[in-house]
Amino acid sequence: MDFSFLSEYWYYFVSGTANTIVIAILTVILGVIIGTVIALMKISHNKVLKAVASSYIEFIRGTPLLVQITLFFYLISLPEFHIFGLELERFIPGVIAMSVNSGAYVAEIIRAGIQAVDKGQMEAARSIGFTHGQAMRYIVLPQALRNILPALGNEFVVVIKESSVLSVISISELMRNTNIIQGAIYRPFEPLAITAIIYFLLTFSLTRLLGYAERRMRTSD
Ligand code: ARG
Repeated sequence: MDFSFLSEYWYYFVSGTANTIVIAILTVILGVIIGTVIALMKISHNKVLKAVASSYIEFIRGTPLLVQITLFFYLISLPEFHIFGLELERFIPGVIAMSVNSGAYVAEIIRAGIQAVDKGQMEAARSIGFTHGQAMRYIVLPQALRNILPALGNEFVVVIKESSVLSVISISELMRNTNIIQGAIYRPFEPLAITAIIYFLLTFSLTRLLGYAERRMRTSD
């Protein structure tokens, strides 16, 4: 084993990790927005909205992320433009593909979270004069959030790991930068070992943080 390449290439790990984190945060934010809309469509009483939401979820969950990423890359063909060293012509379709993918999983997290709240809660709220919307907002959603937030944390962890697939469209996230180092030094193993450790540190610290937040949420019960 020879890690002497680090003195020359360490910055690829740093910038790759930074880009991976940025991509994961953007994906989770956009994924939650998409997922909320899809979840609301799915629990609505409108047949068309329901059908659209179900098709979206089934299609996205039924096709590989790898296929979705490459599909979006060719679908949204942008001219070359670079800001802050980010190749946005690949970054944008990449983040959109990740968000569209994550949105389908988030939609199910939110739908399940809302439906897990006992329907007696809605009935009780309605019986004391709340409208459907008020009951949802003040009674059901605050309780649903307790099911939803921990699952969203897990989604964040999944997104960090799955973003490595973006390396196939040459977005300079951690995995892509690792490939660049491997090619430059003609050694495949050492860079990958470091990358595995970095991914692990990212997901492990996030998991610990989420566990802590979840325990605090429970004590406030
Ligand atoms: N590996 C899965 C696939 O290829 C992606 C799963 C994404 N999961 C998620 N919770 N966002 O389809």
